[in-house]
Parts: sequence; structure tokens; C-alpha cells
Amino acid sequence: MDTLQAYFNTHKDRFLEELFELIRIPSVSSDPNHREDMYKAAEKLRSFLEKAGAENSKVYETAGHPVVYADKIFDPSLPTVMVYGHYDVQPADPLELWETPPFEPQIRKTELHPEGAIFARGADDDKGQMFMHVKAFEAMVAEGVLPCNVKFMIEGEEEIGSPSLGAFCEANKEMLHSDVILVSDTGLINKETPTITTGLRGLSYVQVEVTGPNRDLHSGLYGGGVANPLNILCDMVARLHDENKRITIEGFYDDVLEVSDDERAKMNLAPFDLDEYRKSIGIEEESGETGFTTIERTSIRPTLDLNGIWGGFTGEGAKTVLPSKAFAKISMRLVPNQDPAKISELFEKHFKSLAPKSVKVKVEYHHGGYATVTPVDTPEYKAAEMAMQKTFGKEVIPIRSGGSIPIIALFEKVLGVKSVLMGFGLDSNAIHSPNEHYSLFTFYKGIETIPYYYQFYSELKKS
Ligand code: BES
Ligand code: MN
Ligand code: MN
Repeated sequence: MDTLQAYFNTHKDRFLEELFELIRIPSVSSDPNHREDMYKAAEKLRSFLEKAGAENSKVYETAGHPVVYADKIFDPSLPTVMVYGHYDVQPADPLELWETPPFEPQIRKTELHPEGAIFARGADDDKGQMFMHVKAFEAMVAEGVLPCNVKFMIEGEEEIGSPSLGAFCEANKEMLHSDVILVSDTGLINKETPTITTGLRGLSYVQVEVTGPNRDLHSGLYGGGVANPLNILCDMVARLHDENKRITIEGFYDDVLEVSDDERAKMNLAPFDLDEYRKSIGIEEESGETGFTTIERTSIRPTLDLNGIWGGFTGEGAKTVLPSKAFAKISMRLVPNQDPAKISELFEKHFKSLAPKSVKVKVEYHHGGYATVTPVDTPEYKAAEMAMQKTFGKEVIPIRSGGSIPIIALFEKVLGVKSVLMGFGLDSNAIHSPNEHYSLFTFYKGIETIPYYYQFYSELKKS
């Protein structure tokens, strides 16, 4: 392991330069205009994996964006770790809010990151985090200290709900067989605190369309006599929560697994400062379901949020119009045991029941996925705990995150393999937002930590 540190020191600038090459390819999975870039990013990543010492590297076509696979199999009797990550990114807009262009990575120092942070779309989520694995692997191969078999499966559709990856896994079960799936696509509580994510929320994402009159109307001539679908939509959305901020959809909470008082008490021990939380996002007061703390509200409780709402006139100036249609995008974050398909149906039924006769309602389903809880009493998890403890010098804190990586639950179902979520992001990294960044401290900390995972995991499996 000491030889690795020397290797990192010698090559750390090149690691960054290579990551920048990957970041410069705008692999926005949701945008058809970037289809070519998806292939470019996949091929670039494949070539990096090959140069790092992986074999069988290949860009696999799917019905959607390609999957990059590569491996290094020393001995089939050794344990096999499969690294999962994603090379696709969220759209960069609103562009005008970026201080430097999103696909021209730059290192800037900030108050929180005096050592510097990489500013770019994908710097954290997930190019930066995924790339730590490529570089840790490269170093272990170069120094001849890799104690396990390794597979890489890096997809290009995570940010759009991984629509093709389930079928890819079904079709390649043998190739993707492993003992554990290791993922760095989550976060730390803060820079100093080693953290492992032991749960993720599920997701159900819908779009609604409310139609009133058959055309836009003059809001003077018709206003007052005709239902305005925008007014109605706002009213319907407002009725989706009660005064305790509980979701009013009938049956919504039926399958929710309540968390024991003991576990709730434990999760509230995690370092968390409400004042800092408020300050960091510029709010005077937090808000959420009565009876739960902010940590609980954002991890073990299901939620319903508008992600966008539009209709009518939104241009500059004023135009007097009573719109024909109103739209909204709504996400529901789910907890273990809630079925995303069932929740979407319950939503549709309930939402339609809220509509007056004066409008018609259409509900369209976007992506969804199940929540995840990972076991903590396995060698797969323990190895991560030991590795992080080693490099941070502190005891690991397990957390359940509010974010979603729906494919993790599917891995368990299709491949029968559980995941370990050892991520190095920070909530303040502004993923999905303008000025996304990833601190150099966590980038190098991750690269340093990952080899210990392999070392401890192989030792635990031997004993
Ligand atoms: N890496 C994130 C999820 C994440 C971030 C989990 C931080 C925990 C901590 C992932 O890329 C993501 O953005 N997932 C989406 C869901 C997807 C289906 C679009 C999400 O959570 O909104
Ligand atoms: Mn991600
Ligand atoms: Mn993301």
C-alpha cells in the first residue's frame, strides 16, 4: 500500500488531466443532441480502462446509450468486485448561472475547499467519483497489489432512470457475475467524516396535464366564467399535502416500513447542524412532515414535490391570456417496500379525483425505481468501513440518503448481488445545479481509500 502512495504522488496531475478529458465531453443523457457525445464519452472511458490495465474492455450497444464494460480476472476462485458508475450527466442549464463554462473544467479555491475543487458538470456526479475507481485500479495493477478480480460496468443512462440497464444485466448475467457491486455515487456527511450510505430512496416521477377550454382565451372576455387550468392545477397540487405536510394520496403510506425508535434515535446522532443547514441554502426555516426531524424527513420518509409547473404566458412583459392547458412534473421519493408502479397508480387515481368537471386530467409516468437498504453485517460492507476508517482516521457513520439510484435495487433482483455505496460527494457540491464541483481533497481521498477496500475485502473473505 505504501508503494501506491508513491504512485499517486507521481501521477496525480495526469489523473486530473484525464478526468478533465472525460468531463469535456458533454455526455448529457437526456438530450438527443448529445447522442454522439455519449459514444465519445463511452469510448474515452473504455480506452482509459484499457490503459489502466483492464482486459475485455468494450463499449456495448443497448437500446439506449452504451454501457462500458472491462475486467481484470486473476483467478476465478478469488472474490470479484464489480464497480458500477455512470458517465452520463444532467443537463447544464441554466447556463447563465455558471461562473465558468460547465464542460470546461477549472480548479478554483473556495472557502470550504482551500485546496481547490474541480468546477464542471459531472465533476462529482458521477465522472469524478467513478474515475477514482479507474485510477485506484490503475495504481493497483501497476504496483501488482490488486488482490481481487475486478469488473467495471459504467452506464450512460443513470440520470434518465437507467431504462436499458436492466435488459443489459439480464442478457449478460454471466459476464456481470460478482460478489459485490461497489459504487461511488453518493456522499459524505462532511469532508472529515467517513460515511457509508446504507439506504437510498426510491422514485416515482409523473407528469400531469390539465386541460380546460379547447384554446387559449382572452382573460378579460372569458375570465371569471371559465375554469382556468393553471388555477385548478395549483389548487389540486396544494391539496396533495395536508396541514401536517403529510401526503393526502389515499393508500400512499400503506406499505411504508416504519423505522424503529432505536434506529431513528441512532440516525439522529449523525453530525448535523440545523443552523448550518439553513445557512448553506439560504433559508430561515426548514419545513417538512410533522413529527420527524430533518434527517428523517430527507431519508426515511416518502415525499412528493413539484419539480416544474408551467402553462400560459411566461415570456417577458404581460399578455392577458387564460390558458387552455397547464402542466406539472412531480417526483415522489419512496422508502423501502413502496412499489413505484403502485404509487404512480395511486397518484393518478387520487389526482384525477381532485379535478372538477371543468377540466380534463392526463397523467403520464416517467421513470421510477425501488428504494434500497444495504446490509451492514457482511464482509462486503465491513471492508468499506475498514477502508474509510483507515484513510479518514475516524469511525464510519452509516447514513440513509434521500437520493435515488434506482438501478441498485434492480442489481439485486436481476444479478442477485448487493451493493456497497461508498461515495465521496458532499451536499454542497451542487450536483445537478450550476457550478457543480468536486473537491480535490475528496478526489484524492477516494483514490487512496479504494485500494484498502480491495485489501480488506480479500482478507475478510480469506478468513
Ligand atoms: N448520484 C445521484 C444520486 C445520489 C446523490 C444519491 C447523492 C445519494 C447522494 C444520481 O446520479 C441521481 O441524481 N439520481 C437521481 C435519480 C435518477 C433516476 C434521475 C435522483 O436522485 O434524482
Ligand atoms: Mn449519480
Ligand atoms: Mn445525478
